[in-house]
Amino acid sequence: MLPKLAQNTYKTSGLRYYTTEPTLKERLTQILPGQVEHVKKLKAQHGDKIVGTCTIAQAYGGMRSVKALVTETSSLDPEEGITFRGLTIPQCQEQLPKAPGGNEPLPEGILWLLLTGEVPTESQVKELSKDLAKRSGLPTHVKAMIKAFPKDLHPMSQFAAAVLALQKDSKFVKAYNDGVKKDKYWESTLEDSLDLIAKLPEIAALIYQSTYYSKDLPHTIDANLDWSANFTKMLGFNDKGFDELMRLYLTIHSDHEGGNVSAHTTHLVGSALSDAYYSFAAGMCGLAGPLHGLANQEVLSWTLDLQNKIGEGKEVSDEKLAELVWEGLNAGRVVPGFGHAVLRKTDPRYTSQREFALKHLPNDPLFKLVSQIFKVVPDVLTKHGKTKNPYPNVDAHSGCLLQYYGLKEHNYYTVLFGVSRALGVLAQLVISRAHQLPIERPKSITSLWIEEFVNKESNKN
Ligand SMILES: CC(C)(COP(=O)(O)OP(=O)(O)OC[C@H]1O[C@@H](n2cnc3c(N)ncnc32)[C@H](O)[C@@H]1OP(=O)(O)O)[C@@H](O)C(=O)NCCC(=O)NCCS
Repeated sequence: MLPKLAQNTYKTSGLRYYTTEPTLKERLTQILPGQVEHVKKLKAQHGDKIVGTCTIAQAYGGMRSVKALVTETSSLDPEEGITFRGLTIPQCQEQLPKAPGGNEPLPEGILWLLLTGEVPTESQVKELSKDLAKRSGLPTHVKAMIKAFPKDLHPMSQFAAAVLALQKDSKFVKAYNDGVKKDKYWESTLEDSLDLIAKLPEIAALIYQSTYYSKDLPHTIDANLDWSANFTKMLGFNDKGFDELMRLYLTIHSDHEGGNVSAHTTHLVGSALSDAYYSFAAGMCGLAGPLHGLANQEVLSWTLDLQNKIGEGKEVSDEKLAELVWEGLNAGRVVPGFGHAVLRKTDPRYTSQREFALKHLPNDPLFKLVSQIFKVVPDVLTKHGKTKNPYPNVDAHSGCLLQYYGLKEHNYYTVLFGVSRALGVLAQLVISRAHQLPIERPKSITSLWIEEFVNKESNKN
């Protein structure tokens, strides 16, 4: 039997394997060959074993639960929710390094964890923050492009387009054209991924400033600040509470295993050896859909609409609230922020945001309404009888927190999700390159094929 892949062996408080701590790239260079070898053996020894099947209902039904993808960075259990390399959100909050005086994990730490499977030390995360700061800075054509976009172009369209405009500097494309060997593809993909992650806060903040305020960035990247704090300052915030919220937000939205639309799209496009810019931009076009990342924008509009109907600051009975929720359902609309394709309980990403709110804004009227919705909606959705999961997902909470701190532009929220999602999907892309995963090409069938197949099967019986 093969030994299990090591997870989290390099803890801040545990054994130190090195006197001089390796950087992210050095550490990956040390561990990736062993992991690649391990997977090769796994495939050689057990490649013919069946891990899942696909029914006709699944083929028509968005391939729900079909086990046909390998993603190392995180895993989603329907009952327990997400774990990042084996760590739950509370464990990440406890174990990942924090900013001085802060309580929430630094997103640089989750990036390290997702890429390596190890908890980084504080100094490793600090170095990574500095490295990202060094890689920041937008080319003039990207700045000019964002400023020239019409104000009513959705921020997600601006975001994806700006990412694509960075593609001309892809180091992977250069290495590929120079004939780099396959087993080194991951190195230039890591370079592209870090360059892109470093530039995303500037892209996102410039979109924000330009779209809503016709302004330039109010802050230039400071190498002594973490990635998230630089981002909040570029968004124009100077609030330690908001800094903490964004560190948590950018950490918990980073990854949700490999089958969700943004992760799967990034992986699929990357499997054609399209570089990190093409792959991530494609993933962001998927995140922009209302059934995926756009739900956070929809949730807030829906919640504020409810608040309007109730009257701001006024209390509402659970019965009346349920009636209002039914109105939308009876009109054929979904309750945004509830339900999930995989999860069958309250999303732990929702719970962590709720805990943040209980700590920092317990008396906020909108939070109180969100709490009451949390109490009322699962019962309504259960009676409605359609959704397989009547509980809230990640998007049901974030808008209320962002509103509280003054980030009020709803249609911008998915961009924040996108900045965070880069950490997960780009880590997945680097690992896919290290394993030299082939181009993705599942087999599609026609309804005629299915009919003939079903007929043949019934003739056998
Ligand atoms: C997330 C979501 C897209 C998952 O879709 P799914 O895997 O197809 O979910 P289910 O299998 O439970 O859907 C079965 C039925 O319940 C309905 N349903 C699911 N969630 C619902 C909700 N929140 N409100 C009303 N109906 C819902 C579906 O629309 C579907 O109806 P249909 O048979 O008429 O097409 C879905 O729950 C949804 O639309 N939620 C609201 C949007 C949202 O919050 N998205 C963010 C996800 S992180």
